[in-house]
Amino acid sequence: MSEPNKVKRVPLGASGINIPELGVGVWQWGDSLSWGYGRSYSEADIRGAFEASLARGLDFFDTAEVYGRGESERLLGKLIRESGRTVTVASKFFPFPWRLTRGTLLQALDHSLRRLDLDSIDLYQIHFPTPPVPIETWLAGLADAFDRKLIRAAGISNFNLNQTRRAHATLATRGIPLASNQVSFSLLNRQPQTTGLLDTCRELNVTLIAYSPLAQGLLTGKYTRQHRPGGIRAVRGFQISFDTIGRLIDLMSEIGAGHGGKTPAQVALNWVICKGAVPIPGAKSAPQAEENAGAAGWRLAPDEVAALDAASR
Ligand SMILES: NC(=O)c1ccc[n+]([C@@H]2O[C@H](COP(=O)([O-])OP(=O)(O)OC[C@H]3O[C@@H](n4cnc5c(N)ncnc54)[C@H](OP(=O)(O)O)[C@@H]3O)[C@@H](O)[C@H]2O)c1
Repeated sequence: MSEPNKVKRVPLGASGINIPELGVGVWQWGDSLSWGYGRSYSEADIRGAFEASLARGLDFFDTAEVYGRGESERLLGKLIRESGRTVTVASKFFPFPWRLTRGTLLQALDHSLRRLDLDSIDLYQIHFPTPPVPIETWLAGLADAFDRKLIRAAGISNFNLNQTRRAHATLATRGIPLASNQVSFSLLNRQPQTTGLLDTCRELNVTLIAYSPLAQGLLTGKYTRQHRPGGIRAVRGFQISFDTIGRLIDLMSEIGAGHGGKTPAQVALNWVICKGAVPIPGAKSAPQAEENAGAAGWRLAPDEVAALDAASR
C-alpha cells in the first residue's frame, strides 16, 4: 500500500466551513444494531480509527441520532473530548412518523448536542425526506436551529433532485445556504450521476456528500463469491454479481498500481472525489482509516475515470 498524500480541504457548500476532501462515517461506531456488520471490533479499534483519521488530516466525522440509538454520537463526543481537538461534526435528525412539528427537530438536536457534548453541531442534516410531514416543516426547524446558532450549516440527506431544489429555495427565503445533500454514491451506485442530482448540486453550490462510497466494503476487494459479507450486505452482494465486482476490482488494482500502489478501496474513493463529491467511508480500525486516508491528496487521470465509468456501467 502506498503512503497517503496530504489531504486537501474543500468548501462545504456556501457555509464558510472547510472540510477535508474525504470524511469519516461513524455509523458503525457503537452500533449494536449494525445490520449484519457484526461486533468483531472493540472500542479500542474505534479509538484507533479516530486517532488514525485525525493524524492523516481527516477531521470531518458524520454521525446521526439513530446510529446505535445515540451510541455513535456518544462515542464520537467522548473521543473528541478526550482528544482535545477541534473537529467538524455532522449529525442528522430522523423524521420519525410520531414527529409532526418543527419543534421536535429542536428537541432532537438538543439531545444530539448533549450526547456529543457540544454547544453546536457544524452540519445538521435531515436524514430522510420521509412523509407525511412536508420537508418544508423540517427545513423551517433547521433554519430556527441555524438562527439560534445551534448549528453552523444546514444539510439534507437522501433528497432527490426536485426535493433538493425545494430545500435550497426554502432555506434561501431565510437567507441560509443549503450546504450539502448526503446520498449513496459509489462505483456500484451511480444514481446521483445518472439522475442529474450531482450536476444540480454543483449548480446550486451544494456539496454532495457520498455515503457508502465503498459499497459497504464490496469495493475493497475483500469480499468474493467464495467469501461473502454477512447480514444485509449479503443481499446486496447477490443483487450485484460478484463477476462484475471482480472485474472492477481487477481494473482498480491495475489503475492503482500506476499510482504508486494504491489499493482498490483508495481508487474507488478517489473516483468519488474526482466526480466532485466528498466520500465519507466508514472505518472500524486504524488500518482501515489509514488505508482510506490514502485515497486523498492525488487524482486519477480523466481516462482512468472514464475507464472506471465504463466498467461500472
Ligand atoms: N445518510 C444516510 O442515509 C446514510 C446511509 C448509510 C451510511 N451513511 C453514512 O456513510 C458512512 C459510510 O457508509 P457505509 O458504512 O454504509 O459504507 P462504506 O463506507 O462503503 O463501507 C464501510 C465498511 O467497509 C469496510 N471498510 C471500510 N474501509 C475499509 C478498508 N480500508 N478495507 C477493508 N474494509 C473496509 C468496513 O466494514 P467491514 O470491515 O465489516 O467489511 C466498513 O464498516 C456511514 O458511517 C454513515 O456515516 C449515511
